[in-house]
Amino acid sequence: MTVPAGKLPLPELQAMKERGDKIVMVTAYDAPGARFAEDAGIDIVLVGDTAAMVVLGHEGTTVPVTVDEMLFLTRTVARNSRRPLVVGDLPFGSYQVSDDDAVRTAIRFVKEGGADIVKLEGGGPMVSRVRRIVESGIPVMAHIGLTPQSATMLGGFKTQGKTAEAARRLVSDPLELEAAGACSTVLEAIPAPVAARVTEALRIPTIGIGAGPDCDGQVLVYHDLLGLTEGHLPRFVKRYANLSREIRDALEAYAAEVRSGAFPGEEHTYEMPADELAEFEGAALDGAVRPRER
Ligand code: KIV
Repeated sequence: MTVPAGKLPLPELQAMKERGDKIVMVTAYDAPGARFAEDAGIDIVLVGDTAAMVVLGHEGTTVPVTVDEMLFLTRTVARNSRRPLVVGDLPFGSYQVSDDDAVRTAIRFVKEGGADIVKLEGGGPMVSRVRRIVESGIPVMAHIGLTPQSATMLGGFKTQGKTAEAARRLVSDPLELEAAGACSTVLEAIPAPVAARVTEALRIPTIGIGAGPDCDGQVLVYHDLLGLTEGHLPRFVKRYANLSREIRDALEAYAAEVRSGAFPGEEHTYEMPADELAEFEGAALDGAVRPRER
């Protein structure tokens, strides 16, 4: 696919919503992932704090990942993304304490991480965080519904907005976040009719994950959609490949071939000119290759 030159302009996200063109977002955490996303014509690459689980090996929580770890990953992805907008996910603890903290962290993600946009979770007190970060010149993507950084408070990784009252809150939070200047919002694990209502109510685009087909765009976690994640997956994940099976098969085949001597074969082995080889083989090795005695 031919990718247009240059960074996707931020206003294009809103224009896509207005045209009814779906926005495609995927997470990435390293250079190959960023390049694959770019070449597939993905619009937005999210360096998600899901890195805690899918890259750094923390089980069932995004909370432990640090600003420095996220900056390392964001920098790597940004360096390898020309067209897609790169979203840096602010990790837990880096913006909850105060607006000033949030602005300082967001600036680090742009200056040191190369992010185009930063993302943070929640409504309520987060509305003023969004306003202050946007006032400092940095675009913010909001994230409501299931917000994994506060999963304990939510009673686990559970669908949100299943009662009429909770659903009403899910509509009012993003309206406040939009008024504070958010450029779009993730809607995670909420009933499809609620997501449809939020999408209709907002001018900014909604990016759904487990929020049904009526969102303005969709996001999935790279490792989930490629089948690199093993074990239980949320209902909303669709697997487009089974790479963990392929990787396991390949590693097992490699180990077996090394042990049997089948690898390396002749085609993986370097030769040298016959006369040089004869001279080399006829030469005494003593002193020629041994390290000098001290
Ligand atoms: O961290 C992440 O990957 C996310 C997506 C699930 C939206 O926030």
